[in-house]
Amino acid sequence: MALRYDPFDPKFRTDPYPAYAELRTETPVAHHPAGAGQPEFWALTRFADVWDAVRDPATFSSAQGLTFFPDEIGSLGIPPTLVMLDPPVQTRLRGLIGRAFTPRRIAELEQRIRAFVKERIGELTERAAGGETPDLHQLFSAPIPVFVLADLLGVPESERASFTPWVAGLTAIQNDGFAIDVDQVSGQHAVGEMLGYFSEAITHRRSCTAHDDLISALVTTELDGAQLSDWDILGFCFVMVAGGSDTTASLISHAITLLTEAPAQREILLAEPTLIPSSVLEFLRLESSVQALARTTTRDVTLHDQTIPAGQKVMMVYGSANRDEAEFGRNADQLDVLRRPDRHLAFSSGPHFCIGSHAARLQATIALEELLAAHPRITAEAAAGERHDSYFVRAWKSLPCGDLSR
Ligand code: HEM
Repeated sequence: MALRYDPFDPKFRTDPYPAYAELRTETPVAHHPAGAGQPEFWALTRFADVWDAVRDPATFSSAQGLTFFPDEIGSLGIPPTLVMLDPPVQTRLRGLIGRAFTPRRIAELEQRIRAFVKERIGELTERAAGGETPDLHQLFSAPIPVFVLADLLGVPESERASFTPWVAGLTAIQNDGFAIDVDQVSGQHAVGEMLGYFSEAITHRRSCTAHDDLISALVTTELDGAQLSDWDILGFCFVMVAGGSDTTASLISHAITLLTEAPAQREILLAEPTLIPSSVLEFLRLESSVQALARTTTRDVTLHDQTIPAGQKVMMVYGSANRDEAEFGRNADQLDVLRRPDRHLAFSSGPHFCIGSHAARLQATIALEELLAAHPRITAEAAAGERHDSYFVRAWKSLPCGDLSR
């Protein structure tokens, strides 16, 4: 059997979409044998298969980690967080967190996010006026989720200079870690410092009720008499920062690369900016920040005449599922800002459906509304940009932009 799901191949990582299309047609259950230092795993690439698998945690468990590496849990020296737990423990924890991390709390941030976005646009404009080719990702997309996370978690202005490198260290491990070129030592140092900072913040919030941030809400939240432990809160802070920064930043940057490639679609959005909130899901469908994460089979599973034995890592290839013609029609590979992709897998589905999806969508909506209003013809120079070289995420490191005049 030909093997075409090969995230170890740098060419595959650069443009996985042609391989995904072949896999969906010919090898929807692909087996990657162990060898040459690479682990054994499987990959599901069709929408319907990934959809069913992530909604069946009794068969496809998250409790052995989310990558194809066998021993990832504990590599950062921290216990598993809700994303690496199965129901019913995960359901209880998520229920408690959900009482504090509500869509309303996110919506309350709107004005502050908008003011920050405008300030960032000012910086881009100024640099372009000074003759520079500004970096859209570094100067605009990446700072937005860092600002929102710091704001949500109650990190005061005076301490944000430390917070930004912690986020960068953590996402470096997350995106390039385990095997590629990341400096694991400085990454782990950043994680250690961040966890220390949030441990102190949790202790402080338990004794002082004068704050109105998410950590304060988490320490007081209660469900059926149960409360969150320090570790539950710390683990949640960790997953928020790990899962909510580069993913959101890359969504914003990808929106501009996709609009640069499809000028007619840009015209539709410029003529009808009320389409921006729903177009955010379409950008994410086509360029899913999280391309693939693993589950582990708890029993033998037979699918399309292939049997995956119990105990095997199986990649849920969200990036492929989201371009499946069987779900999204013959133009699944094309941007269509009028599409309403209500059912897609960029935020997964089932028990682990992204708890930060409201926050991500709000940030991207505000960023695009303001950026397209200020610079309707802005282009992204993807060929001059640089991506994280990751097995699991599709994320920019830098992305120069042009045409910042009206
Ligand atoms: C475009 C941006 C984002 C994308 C593409 C994204 C994607 C995802 C995906 C695919 C999962 C499921 C993981 C799995 O399959 O096991 C997930 C879970 C999660 N996400 Fe996001 N995410 C984004 C933004 C955010 C933000 C902004 C936050 C928080 C502020 C966040 C917090 C979380 C948490 C805590 C979970 C774990 C939920 C659970 O296990 O019950 N994410 N996200």
